[in-house]
Amino acid sequence: MRKPLIAGNWKMNKTSEQARSLVRELLPLISPYKSVEIVLCPPFTSLMALSALVAGTSIGLGAQDMYWEPSGAFTGEIAPGMVKEFCNFVILGHSERRSYFGETDVIVNKKVKSAFAEVLSPIVCIGETLAEYESGKTAEVVTRQIREGLKELDPAKLQTLIIAYEPVWAIGTGKASSGEGANKVVKDYIRPTLKALFGDSVAESTRVLYGGSVSASNAAEFFTQSEIDGALVGGASIKLPDFPQIVRAAVK
Ligand code: PGA
Repeated sequence: MRKPLIAGNWKMNKTSEQARSLVRELLPLISPYKSVEIVLCPPFTSLMALSALVAGTSIGLGAQDMYWEPSGAFTGEIAPGMVKEFCNFVILGHSERRSYFGETDVIVNKKVKSAFAEVLSPIVCIGETLAEYESGKTAEVVTRQIREGLKELDPAKLQTLIIAYEPVWAIGTGKASSGEGANKVVKDYIRPTLKALFGDSVAESTRVLYGGSVSASNAAEFFTQSEIDGALVGGASIKLPDFPQIVRAAVK
């Protein structure tokens, strides 16, 4: 029922010229997989160029962040309406935003609200750090991030909500979680928290992705889990043949 989704988080990589040439190579390799929704999230500066390249294909675009105010004196920031010019998705609350740029659950909540107001699908990232994992706090952390990050949202408007469970210790480390371990977090903590807050239908229909060192060789281990609906891919999303192989692994 939940369509698999593979999102590529390019992070701070590629000029717009490099982005264009990568997407020219990627398109014929990923667009045949129509049963998988594919979203590329390049830096802001490449969105305009890539939106022209993916026009008329099934490939979507997402931003990696945005500010919550609609316009004004916020030097250096990008407004939801500016993202919406080129994208239907936006990654919010990524652990790198939280750890390097001081994003709190309160900030994530403002951004999530403004994403919905602008009809953007937010990919809300949650996940515990290594210290939290080792001290058994995974449930507490992901539950808090959902409760605070998704505070005061109208369940009727949450059809396009996407959650990415990304244990921080697995991001960019080459040490992915196990498929079973990640599935358990989604099944035992993430969906039950969504259910408690927004009811059965939101808990069942929300796509929950796994992220953290997803590669061509481990992707299938995640996609065969009952509660995992795809991946937020970092490093491997700008690699060939890796990214197309990950997309292919998501075909049911
Ligand atoms: P990674 O990054 O795949 O390079 O671990 C994932 C992410 O940060 O979303």
